[in-house]
Amino acid sequence: MSELPVVNLTDEQLRILTLACDKTPKSLLIIGKAGCGKSTVLNALRERLNTLNIRYAVAAPTGVAAIKVGGVTIHSLIASLSKSSNVENPLRTVIIDEVSMCPPDLLDNLNNALKRHTGLKAPFGGVTVALIGDPCQLPPVVIEKSAQAEYLKDNYLTKYFWSSRAYSETAWDVIELTKIFRQKDPTFVKLLNRIRKGDTDLPARYINENLQTDRIHGVLLTGSNAYADATNLQILDSLSGKEVIVRGSKVGEFPDKDFPTMYSLPLKVGAQVMIVKNIYKDVDTLELANGDWGVVKDFDYREIDERGLEIVKDDPTGVYVECKRTNETHRVAYTAWEKKEMAYNYKTKTITEQVVGKFIQVPLRLAWAITIHKSQGATIEDITIDLRKPMFAPGQLYVAMSRGVALDRIKVLGTCRTKDIQTCPEVLAFLNGFSAGVGIKDGGRFDPKVSTILFSEIIKNAQGVQDSGNVLEVDERFLKEVRAPRIIDTPGSV
Ligand SMILES: Nc1ncnc2c1ncn2[C@@H]1O[C@H](COP(=O)(O)OP(=O)(O)OP(=O)(O)O)[C@@H](O)[C@H]1O
Ligand SMILES: [Mg+2]
Repeated sequence: MSELPVVNLTDEQLRILTLACDKTPKSLLIIGKAGCGKSTVLNALRERLNTLNIRYAVAAPTGVAAIKVGGVTIHSLIASLSKSSNVENPLRTVIIDEVSMCPPDLLDNLNNALKRHTGLKAPFGGVTVALIGDPCQLPPVVIEKSAQAEYLKDNYLTKYFWSSRAYSETAWDVIELTKIFRQKDPTFVKLLNRIRKGDTDLPARYINENLQTDRIHGVLLTGSNAYADATNLQILDSLSGKEVIVRGSKVGEFPDKDFPTMYSLPLKVGAQVMIVKNIYKDVDTLELANGDWGVVKDFDYREIDERGLEIVKDDPTGVYVECKRTNETHRVAYTAWEKKEMAYNYKTKTITEQVVGKFIQVPLRLAWAITIHKSQGATIEDITIDLRKPMFAPGQLYVAMSRGVALDRIKVLGTCRTKDIQTCPEVLAFLNGFSAGVGIKDGGRFDPKVSTILFSEIIKNAQGVQDSGNVLEVDERFLKEVRAPRIIDTPGSV
């Protein structure tokens, strides 16, 4: 079942499907700003590959991202590939979502595992790969001073995927999706573009002059997990009315850290909740979308037993939620999330996805507050961004702002400091087409002095561009710079 509403794909989106399903193996890098339909294309591609009976895997760098996209972690994919060298019927296609969060060693390990899998020396073993993501969104999570951080520092120029050996040995077809669907207002799109590029002054001024508030409207997007949980429970406590615990269950392997919502979910009538999975009326019609939010109106305790008779249970069988977007009350029932691993079948000599565990719960999360990291990928119509504490990751404010659909439905608590708007210099360098020099060098170390000079030049150039002219001109120049020679010219591009 598709994870997103049925939409008419644009020509540039359709082009990706054609390239990815081509008989000749391709290495595709599919980038684009927030809300340009990357996940939508991924889902359409999955359907097309199913129809064509092409053996494929969908993977993501983290467990949470893998569950969101209905795929496996890259680690799990590598583990199963390592059990299946030189197979007769290898994978034909690998799709990676949220590639901005993929560290370079992980892509190198995948490259090597695919080469062993097919027995071919070609990049990625001659398997078509499609890396999908926005380099300006959240970066790989690497804990400072950890063994991984030290290893990456010693062996790679940056912590991003393009610093891998795999990236530099491959000829990429880079496709940039250019049409933004989530936001329609050109002023909002321009503001987002500035934040995306790390242009600090104008966006900070705009935010402070226009978006400040002293109370939460819609969903509070905050940096800290603990703060989000505490805020939710505190507000829930303050509601009068009986607290109902909606209990989840787990079958097989499903790590707690990947649960999309609480195992024992406390709710009350009046609780603000977010839908955390698409809910379909039938195969083609979406009733509620991942990211919709609303208010709990009531609990349902009824169930039809095996004799077809209605019985009343002690625990809720569903939750009635009035959805803000549809203005209607919907019954939200239990649903299952699957934890998948890739498994090698010795008999058929193939690797296939295998469901190793399930988590069953109503697809609701208390949603007065959620973290910006968890919000990546979602559309949230009404948001308040918590700027009382500084943003700590590059791209964090961009991810938060770009969840919204309209400027008059975004508010901020606190003041936007210029340092809250961060884009990694390495990301700007990459997008400016300097990627050829941004990588691993002869398997050895880069001279950091040289690369610092390179990056500072690029940043200066980028800032020079940002400081002159109006926003639209800047965007056009930026887009042109992003289109390095290898980038396929997509229909409708500037
Ligand atoms: N061709 C299209 N026509 C109409 N709407 C579309 C189209 N493609 C995508 N959308 C809509 O645009 C919104 C954003 O799409 P999607 O989530 O796929 O973007 P994304 O690039 O993955 O964003 P993010 O970077 O934030 O994850 C969704 O509501 C989606 O349904
Ligand atoms: Mg997405």
